[in-house]
Amino acid sequence: MQVIHSIAELRRALARQSQTVFVPTMGNLHEGHLSLVREAKRRGGPVVASVFVNRLQFLPHEDFDRYPRTLERDVELLTGVGCNFVFAPDEAELYPKPQVYKVAPPAALADILEGEFRPGFFTGVCTVVLKLFQCVQPAVAVFGQKDYQQLKVITEMARQFALPTEVVGAPTVRADDGLALSSRNGYLGESERHEAIALPQFLRDLADRARDTGTSLAALEKAALDGLRARGWSPDYLTLRRRSDLLPPTDAERQAHEPLVTLGAARIGATRLIDNIEC
Ligand code: PAF
Repeated sequence: MQVIHSIAELRRALARQSQTVFVPTMGNLHEGHLSLVREAKRRGGPVVASVFVNRLQFLPHEDFDRYPRTLERDVELLTGVGCNFVFAPDEAELYPKPQVYKVAPPAALADILEGEFRPGFFTGVCTVVLKLFQCVQPAVAVFGQKDYQQLKVITEMARQFALPTEVVGAPTVRADDGLALSSRNGYLGESERHEAIALPQFLRDLADRARDTGTSLAALEKAALDGLRARGWSPDYLTLRRRSDLLPPTDAERQAHEPLVTLGAARIGATRLIDNIEC
């Protein structure tokens, strides 16, 4: 596996490759990321993973500087799953000048849910993903379904800009007890780690009631939020949405088996977790 730090070197290395499959990451890799690389490998082309902690998607209080940088270990893990190239630019390479040209995703999709609680987050994500796509020029890019809204926002960006990259989602990897794997799980203390499975459990419960229009959606969501709060969580949102546009379903759509998804974000102690369950 080749580790590459500059765009020029990346372009030279990829010049004779075709049908490249790309897995963008911010490093600090875990089994969830490796499953994305395995999915990429199944598609046949050479696999490029990027490791880049993107300042543009951090809010001022989100502590960009303390995000774990673990490149040596990430490279070992990527080697182990057969990744062909790691693109690990430093900031001065990817953003040699302040990135003042940015992608502004539509508010209807990007200012709700995560975007409501992390304003500007999807502008930062889309901007870096578009830039990384320009560097790698992949035929396919693989993103985790755990970041459900991110996958949707990027899929729409690729469509709207007619990017020659197929964006595909790969299933969330869960621990045995059901907690979705995430770099943030490493911040959980022992008791918080036990409690953390309440988030997927409440989402599952909401999903199980999705078709029961005897109770209003607002009442179902409020009960879920109150339930998590009673266990000591600070939830940002726990909600049932249409998969197509992440807006709330009507009662008729709930009954008519419109594809839906429950999405949630909540803080346990100092750690903010997100998850989702399709239903
Ligand atoms: O999902 C992530 O790790 C990041 O948002 C991404 C897509 C690598 C962009 O920085």
